Amino acid sequence: MFSKTFLAAAATFAVALAQDAPPELAAALNSTEELSQLNTLLGGFPDLLSMLANATDITILAPSNDAFSTFLQSPENQAAAADNGTLMALLSYHVLNGTVMSMNITSTPTFVASLLSNETYTNVTGGQRVGARLVGGDDGTATIISGLGSRSNVTTADVAVSNGVVHIIDSVLTIPQSVSDTALLAGLTGLAGALVATDLVETIDTTPDVTIFAPTNSAFEQIGSALGELTPEQATAILGYHVINGSVAYSSLLENGSSVESSTGQPLNITIIDGEVFVNSARVVAADVLVANGVVHLIDGVLNPNSTALPNPDEDESVPVYEGASMGDVPYTTAVTATSTVAVATTDAVADGYTPAPSGALSSASQSNAEAASETSSAGAARITGAIGAAALFAGAGYLAL
Ligand SMILES: *[C@@H]1O[C@H](CO)[C@@H](O)[C@H](O)[C@H]1NC(C)=O
Ligand SMILES: *[C@@H]1O[C@H](CO)[C@@H](O)[C@H](O)[C@H]1NC(C)=O
Ligand SMILES: *[C@@H]1O[C@H](CO)[C@@H](O)[C@H](O)[C@H]1NC(C)=O
Ligand SMILES: *[C@@H]1O[C@H](CO)[C@@H](O)[C@H](O)[C@H]1NC(C)=O
Ligand SMILES: *[C@@H]1O[C@H](CO)[C@@H](O)[C@H](O)[C@H]1NC(C)=O
Ligand SMILES: *[C@@H]1O[C@H](CO)[C@@H](O)[C@H](O)[C@H]1NC(C)=O
Ligand SMILES: *[C@@H]1O[C@H](CO)[C@@H](O)[C@H](O)[C@H]1NC(C)=O
Ligand SMILES: *[C@@H]1O[C@H](CO)[C@@H](O)[C@H](O)[C@H]1NC(C)=O
Ligand SMILES: *[C@@H]1O[C@H](CO)[C@@H](O)[C@H](O)[C@H]1NC(C)=O
Ligand SMILES: *[C@@H]1O[C@H](CO)[C@@H](O)[C@H](O)[C@H]1NC(C)=O
Ligand SMILES: *[C@@H]1O[C@H](CO)[C@@H](O)[C@H](O)[C@H]1NC(C)=O
Repeated sequence: MFSKTFLAAAATFAVALAQDAPPELAAALNSTEELSQLNTLLGGFPDLLSMLANATDITILAPSNDAFSTFLQSPENQAAAADNGTLMALLSYHVLNGTVMSMNITSTPTFVASLLSNETYTNVTGGQRVGARLVGGDDGTATIISGLGSRSNVTTADVAVSNGVVHIIDSVLTIPQSVSDTALLAGLTGLAGALVATDLVETIDTTPDVTIFAPTNSAFEQIGSALGELTPEQATAILGYHVINGSVAYSSLLENGSSVESSTGQPLNITIIDGEVFVNSARVVAADVLVANGVVHLIDGVLNPNSTALPNPDEDESVPVYEGASMGDVPYTTAVTATSTVAVATTDAVADGYTPAPSGALSSASQSNAEAASETSSAGAARITGAIGAAALFAGAGYLAL
């Protein structure tokens, strides 16, 4: 597969390759028809171009012209591209710090720092990451993971340039969004609502370097009766137990038998059985959703720091850890949606593919929660492009470390 694409790449670059030495990046981009759009956009940022020219060991994920024209079909993306700050951030996210060749991309995802480090867009120390993973076996497709579960395929790999390597990709990467926006766009209204109800939106969104184990809506529903009885303090403590503060634990970093400290100081136990990852007794059902300040893994149960239940990989549903709790409405969703009919009804679809809720579902929140709702709904409404990504979140994101 790669030898074939390499030959194609070599042919493409034959003109630029007057000698054996790889061409300068600028010359390579300039002479590649398929990258003329990228070349034009980069031309608007002489400082970035000069920084790239001076850098050593970089990997450029270069969207093809087709990728850009698809991207520019949405009015939101047109607006983003017309804003120099946003465009600069987007282009920086396509440049990786380090030379990642296709042989470095395997079925275990690897997370590589990009040059996007502006705090307006990311609070991941060392630069926002992209994931890279081979999908479909040893002869598979190298796939790039970006925000909102987006996936881009490498169509031409390993184009050597003097200071690194270029891979051509078939869609523009998505800059990872805040935890609360990502939760809303992914239909995780239980989590989004719980963050609003406990007044944790800002803390969770702006703390640098977090890992969040996010219960799905059906996980919240399973213990709906217990959640309804919690005081705000208890709810805050339970949510805090789902967060690792100060460390971004991508799935590839979760080790079997390890214990990681949650933001409440209590340990979370990681177990890997037959390729499935468990946090305490809850199963990770979708891993590595990149967010502005870290990573989110979806889990099928709400964690309880007082339970010592062990994973049961033979059961489809995770072991109940809230004694006596029964199915019930997720109390917090009232903070983000007036009726539970739209967003919450999609919970069972989490594993199979999610249909984003119409934006109207967010604007009719009940009176008492109007303020909280406006906080989240305005944030959500500003990211309409994410709806496409959110669909991708559950269409193909459910892979794990092994
Ligand atoms: C790009 O190519 C054009 C001709 O196709 C040439 O005039 C120009 O100097 C080139 N620019 C760079 C930076 O190589
Ligand atoms: C790149 O290097 C040139 C010459 O070495 C220097 O003049 C320029 O300031 C550098 N650009 C950046 C962005 O570091
Ligand atoms: C970060 O992004 C903001 C908004 O686009 C921009 O105003 C600011 O200049 C950027 N900061 C740096 C250091 O590039
Ligand atoms: C690239 O990573 C190295 C450490 O691996 C770091 O020293 C350097 O500052 C990074 N470069 C950029 C442009 O972020
Ligand atoms: C890529 O793989 C080669 C060969 O296994 C290795 O030497 C190199 O360090 C790897 N590069 C990265 C960035 O992992
Ligand atoms: C990063 O954190 C700062 C506060 O430290 C905040 O102002 C900024 O909005 C955060 N960036 C993002 C993308 O959330
Ligand atoms: C990307 O690659 C995967 C795995 O080979 C494939 O299933 C998917 O259809 C590809 N996506 C596009 C847009 O070609
Ligand atoms: C993480 O820890 C810092 C410092 O103790 C604290 O200010 C912040 O609120 C914590 N964030 C979360 C999400 O627990
Ligand atoms: C993880 O550890 C458990 C025992 O603690 C073991 O049964 C299991 O096979 C291990 N999983 C992997 C993938 O090594
Ligand atoms: C765990 O036990 C402590 C002490 O008994 C109690 O205060 C706390 O509310 C319990 N937490 C949960 C989630 O049940
Ligand atoms: C985590 O593992 C430790 C050590 O094996 C154990 O004492 C603790 O009860 C476990 N915690 C949970 C929540 O399972």
